[in-house]
Amino acid sequence: MFRFLSGVLGSDVGIDLGTANTVVYVSGKGIVFNEPSCVAVRKRSKSGKVDIIAVGKEAKAMVGKTPIGVTTLQPLQDGVIANYDMTETMIRHFLIKIGGGTKLLSHPRVVISVPAEVTEVERRSVIDATLGAGAKEAYVVEEPIAAALGVGLPIQEPRGSMILDIGGGTSEVAILSMGGIVISNSLRAAGNDMDEAILAMLRQNHGLLIGESTAEEVKIAVGSALPLEDEKDIVVKGRDLANGLPKADTVSSVEVREAINPIILKIEDMVKVALEKTPPELSKDIVDQGIILSGGVSQLAGFAERLSRSLNAPVIVAEDPLLSVARGVGKILDNLDTMKKILMSVERGTR
Ligand SMILES: Nc1ncnc2c1ncn2[C@@H]1O[C@H](COP(=O)(O)OP(=O)(O)OP(=O)(O)O)[C@@H](O)[C@H]1O
Ligand SMILES: [Mg+2]
Repeated sequence: MFRFLSGVLGSDVGIDLGTANTVVYVSGKGIVFNEPSCVAVRKRSKSGKVDIIAVGKEAKAMVGKTPIGVTTLQPLQDGVIANYDMTETMIRHFLIKIGGGTKLLSHPRVVISVPAEVTEVERRSVIDATLGAGAKEAYVVEEPIAAALGVGLPIQEPRGSMILDIGGGTSEVAILSMGGIVISNSLRAAGNDMDEAILAMLRQNHGLLIGESTAEEVKIAVGSALPLEDEKDIVVKGRDLANGLPKADTVSSVEVREAINPIILKIEDMVKVALEKTPPELSKDIVDQGIILSGGVSQLAGFAERLSRSLNAPVIVAEDPLLSVARGVGKILDNLDTMKKILMSVERGTR
């Protein structure tokens, strides 16, 4: 009866709980939500109690601009929960927001994605946070499986498919066949680390101190993985390290590329290790079908082409790469009863 009701109310929910962004799929509606995984809190000076003042987009807009007593935080780091209470709170706020402030989504069944190489404890903590946030049942699925389903790869067939997801905190690669992961590899470094590298480069080469949000803007505006036909310049504003005064300086796309290159090299190595371990019959399928690239960093200029050259295989950027995982989680959700049997990696936790 409950299951029937939850279906009617469209309250089954799929969540791609990412380090940088949370994307939510609601059964019968599709993707309804895509906001930064960010929370802003105010600490009461007397009691030390913490009040949530914003979540998602609103909280991200406050990063680096908060007054005394207010802080912004990303409760996930490197794809896993770093701050348990805040993750639970954030999920609860997102569910309320999606329900339009009503209790419609207060007890949904939830399928949530986790990086493939998480530990049992990390996996359990995602389930517990989801249940704690008000879910009636919680299931987890490995991100590469969700991403592959989301982009429509034929993962149930005895054919090799390769998916590479580069997000904010994790880079993951998986070779899938017959509904399961054959080989996977991951790196706890991705888009956020590129931002940090840009930040460090500006400090060192330009004596310019900037915030994380500005570093991300620079990466998106002029970042690249291969030399550009027309290299670009950008004016970056921040604080002069020498005298503490505001400063604006011109930075070139060449410098930005050099700064983020070490992270790209690490990603290439991670994929090479996975390819080396791949059975030859599946390698053949991958060359035929290509490597599918998802996650926000797949949009970095020249990234797909660079990977294609270094890995010697076609690389195809997924359509809407930021939404692949959530779409796949949605597919699992819409066929939960059959998927449960097929996907060994789906787990259940109940209240
Ligand atoms: N056009 C772009 N060029 C380069 N990087 C981009 C671009 N658009 C988004 N990004 C980066 O993609 C990252 C976010 O990607 P995504 O939403 O897939 O991550 P996530 O799923 O939250 O993280 P994870 O899967 O690692 O937990 C951020 O680092 C962001 O700066
Ligand atoms: Mg992700």
